Amino acid sequence: MTQTMIQRVARPAIVLALAAACRTKGGAAPTRSDAPAAIAYPSHIAAGGVAPRGATLTNPYAGDTAAVTAGAALFTAMNCDGCHGGGATGWVGPSLADGRWRYGGAAGEIFSSIYYGRRQGMPAFGGIMPAAGIWKVVTYLQSLEPPNDVPTESWK
Ligand code: HEC
Repeated sequence: MTQTMIQRVARPAIVLALAAACRTKGGAAPTRSDAPAAIAYPSHIAAGGVAPRGATLTNPYAGDTAAVTAGAALFTAMNCDGCHGGGATGWVGPSLADGRWRYGGAAGEIFSSIYYGRRQGMPAFGGIMPAAGIWKVVTYLQSLEPPNDVPTESWK
C-alpha cells in the first residue's frame, strides 16, 4: 500500500471513531417523550432497499374543530407565525398554507416536521411542546385551504 492509499483508508475510520466518541460523550437522548420514535415514510427510498422500522402516526384530533381553534392560538403563542407569517402564509419560513409540502403534508409528516425540526432552519419543538399541542397545530394547518393563486410557482 502506498502512503496515500493508507491515508484514504484510515481517514474515514478515524472520523467514524471520533464521531462515535463524541456521541457517547454527549450522553443518551432524552427519555422524556410522548411520541413514537419515528414514522414510516413509504414514499422515501431507503438505503439498501430496506425501509427502517417505523410507526404510522395518526392525529388524535383529526376533524376536531375545537382543536383547529386551539392549534391556531398555539401557532401564535409558540411564535410559529414569527417565521411562517400570520395565517401560516409564509415569511422567512415557507408557507404552510399553500398545499405544497417539502417534507410531506400527511398528519404524521407535519407532526414530525414540528416535533423533530427540519434541517434548513426549522427548530425542533418536541422538547418544549407536548405531543397533544403539536397535534392541535397539525389539525389547524391541515384545515387551511390553499389559495387559488399561490404566490410562488414550482420549477418546471
Ligand atoms: C426560526 C424560524 C422558525 C420557527 C420559529 C418555526 N419554523 Fe417551521 N420552518 C422554518 C423553516 C426555515 C422551514 C423550512 C425547513 C426546511 O426546508 O428544511 C420550516 C419548516 C416547517 C414545516 C415543514 C414544511 C414543509 O414544507 O414540509 C412545518 C410543518 C413547520 N415548519 C411548522 C412550524 C410550526 C408549527 C412552528 C411553531 C411551533 C414553526 N414551524 C416554527 C422556520 C421556522
